[in-house]
Amino acid sequence: MLHACVTGWPVSHSRSPLIHGFWLRRYKIEGDYSVRPVSPQEAVSFYASFASSSYAGANVTVPHKEVACAAAFKRCGAAERLDVANTLWLEDGRLVADNTDGTGFLASLDQAVPGWSEKTGCALIVGAGGASRAVIDALVQRGVERIELVNRTERRAHDVAVRFADKVRPAGFDALAERLSSADLVINATSAGLSGAELTVPWDRAKDSAIVTDLTYVPLQTPFLRGAASAGLTTVDGLGMLLHQAVPGFERWFGVRPEVDAELRAAVVADLAE
Ligand code: ATR
Repeated sequence: MLHACVTGWPVSHSRSPLIHGFWLRRYKIEGDYSVRPVSPQEAVSFYASFASSSYAGANVTVPHKEVACAAAFKRCGAAERLDVANTLWLEDGRLVADNTDGTGFLASLDQAVPGWSEKTGCALIVGAGGASRAVIDALVQRGVERIELVNRTERRAHDVAVRFADKVRPAGFDALAERLSSADLVINATSAGLSGAELTVPWDRAKDSAIVTDLTYVPLQTPFLRGAASAGLTTVDGLGMLLHQAVPGFERWFGVRPEVDAELRAAVVADLAE
């Protein structure tokens, strides 16, 4: 019997048990995926001794993504570049960390709008927190040439941009309309929606061909996406990223590369609606 879990504090809201439980049943795997709350006081020792636990691996959510990354013997992919991890597994009894948020973001767009990256010369990201960094890293990896970053607190946009050398052009919100007009892909990476706040976006300035996505998936149709859709733009909700970021962990722990399909999506949508 293989065991994996999601760790964080608090962690009860996580949809990861639903996603991994769905795949365990679908692929008839003898395994379980549980919720393991890890208090801030416990975090350093928990991840430091993870390799000798009964788990084959884990997901990591806030606020432990940095601590878990630092505890790993080896970091790969975006975890190595960003020092933030969301997926852990063991290799030769040693802890390995990766960050699959960015690859999940790319895979979600690949599935929803095949060929989007060939048509994306310029991406605009609104928001400069942790989620934004993972997405910028993914866009750089994918070879998107121009990345515009706009944030309410302009200094934070500059702080993020310096991590990506000259690939990212930071600005404050006053630049939003101008930057929007040249963007092929527009991403809301702010947590504004979570607090019920709405961003004022002049959608009439966007390109007709722009693709608009939001990293938030509660609600699925955020005000940001609704605004873009009513301007006739193509929109992609944030649920795909959540589903796709789970794929590499499941494959590492349980040995099957799971599929993100309409049935899984419907199961999570139903859960979100409860
Ligand atoms: P996460 O790790 O989820 O990205 P975070 O690090 O707290 O979360 O970052 C939240 C982002 O949402 C920031 O870019 C924040 O802008 P500030 O840097 O100015 O705080 C942005 N944000 C949150 N609420 C916002 C609002 N009402 N309007 C605009 N931006 C908002």
